[in-house]
Amino acid sequence: MEHSSINSLTSPSRNTALFERAKKLIPGGVNSPVRAFKAVGGTPRFIQRAQGAYFWDADGKRYIDYIGSWGPMILGHGHPAVVEAVQAAVLEGFSYGAPTEREVELAEEIVKLVPSLEMVRLVSSGTEATMSVIRLARGATRRSKIIKFEGCYHGHSDALLVKAGSGLATFGSPTSAGVPPEVVQHTLVLEYNHIVQLEEAFSLHGKDIACLMIEPIAGNMNFVRASVPFIKRCRELCTEYGALLVFDEVMTGFRVALGGAQSVYAKSIPGFKPDMTALGKVIGGGMPMAAFGGSRAVMEHLAPIGSVYQAGTLSGNPVATACGLATLREIQKPGFYDALGARTRSLVEGLTQAATKAGVPFCSDSEGGMFGFFLLSQLPQNYPQVMKTDSPAFNRFYHAMLDSGVYYAPALYEAGFVSAAHTADDIETTIAAARDFFSSLASK
Ligand SMILES: Cc1ncc(COP(=O)(O)O)c(C=O)c1O
Repeated sequence: MEHSSINSLTSPSRNTALFERAKKLIPGGVNSPVRAFKAVGGTPRFIQRAQGAYFWDADGKRYIDYIGSWGPMILGHGHPAVVEAVQAAVLEGFSYGAPTEREVELAEEIVKLVPSLEMVRLVSSGTEATMSVIRLARGATRRSKIIKFEGCYHGHSDALLVKAGSGLATFGSPTSAGVPPEVVQHTLVLEYNHIVQLEEAFSLHGKDIACLMIEPIAGNMNFVRASVPFIKRCRELCTEYGALLVFDEVMTGFRVALGGAQSVYAKSIPGFKPDMTALGKVIGGGMPMAAFGGSRAVMEHLAPIGSVYQAGTLSGNPVATACGLATLREIQKPGFYDALGARTRSLVEGLTQAATKAGVPFCSDSEGGMFGFFLLSQLPQNYPQVMKTDSPAFNRFYHAMLDSGVYYAPALYEAGFVSAAHTADDIETTIAAARDFFSSLASK
C-alpha cells in the first residue's frame, strides 16, 4: 500500500505519459488543435470516462465539465434515455449507406423546432454543414462572394479560414498554410457589430454577394452577441441585395434556446428569420451529426434534384440519429431551458460577484446553457476588443480552476457550457474555487 502511494508520487502522471505517447504518432498529440493546451500551457488531460456533469482524467482526477464536448452534451454525460436509444440502435446495425426512418424523424424534429427551416440535410460535422451551405448559397444565387466576420469560426473549410484584408475593396487572406489566396479571394471579412462597414461592403459588392454568414452569438470569441440593430441591418441588406442570410448555429442551436439564437433575435425583431441555418453539436447529442437547412426553394438546388452537389458516406448515420433524436426529445420537456438558463446565470453571476468583491476586472454573459466571461471590465463587442484580455492572467485563472477540479475550455476565446446535469452544488463549488483564486490575487 505504502509502496504504491510512493510510486504514484514519484512516477509521471498518466496524462503526461499518454501525451508523450500521443505526440509520437499524432501531430501535437491531439486530433483537434485546441485540445493540446497550447494556449494555456501545461499537459492536456486525457479523459477516461464521463458521467453527468463530470469527467475523470487518466490519473483518476474528477473535473466539473464546463465544455461538454464543446457544446453537444446539453443533458450531461451518459443520460439514461440517450444511452438506451444508442444501445438499441447499435444492435440494429452501425451504418447502412441507405435511407432510414430515423433520419426522417430527426429531420421532422429539427424542422418543427426551428421555424425558419422547411428542409434540412444531415451531415456529419459543423464544418461540413457550413461548407455545404456556402456551395448551396453560391449555386442558388449564381454569385461567388461571401461575407464573414472577424472572430467568427465556421469550421475549417478553405473558404472560411480567412482574416480581414487591407480594406473593404480587397478580400481576405488565408489564416492557414495550405489555403491558396485565390481560394479566399471571394471571402470578405468584416468587423463584427460594425454597421457602417457592413453598409459600405454591401454598397460596394452587394450584387455579387451570395451569402452573409454569422455566428449570431459568437462562441468562438468566448461570448460576444451580435447587437439587435446589427442583426436587423444584416437582414435588411441581405433582403435588399438578394443575398442569403446564414446563421451558423452549430454552437447556439438548441443550446441558447429551443429555437436557437434566431428565436432569441425574433423576440426583438418581429418576424425575424435567417434564410439558412447550419446546425451541429446538440443535434448529435455527442455523436457525429450536423445539418443545414433553409427554405424549400433554396434547398431544392441540392443534388439529387438540383445541380449543387453534396454527399456523405456516413450522413444520417443510424446510431448518431438515435443519439440526436433522444437528446432533442429530452430538451423539449417543459421547463428545460428555464432551469438550464437559471443555472447558467447563477454560475456567471457568482463568478462576477466573486471577482468584483476581490477588485478583479471581470464581466460575463450567458444565454440558455452557453456562457462566457472576460477578465475585462466591459463586455467586448468585437474581436479587437476580445484581444485586449490579459491572456497570462486568464491562464493563471485557468490553471487554478483546473487544479481545483473545474474544467473550462483551455483557451481564452472559447465559450463555456452548462448542462442539465450540473447541480447547484457544482455551481457553488466552482464559484468557491474562483473566489479563492480572486482573493489570492487581491492579497498579493
Ligand atoms: C459556430 C461553429 N461553426 C462551425 C463549427 C465547426 O464544427 P465541427 O467542429 O463539428 O466541424 C464550430 C465548431 O466548434 C462552431 O463553433
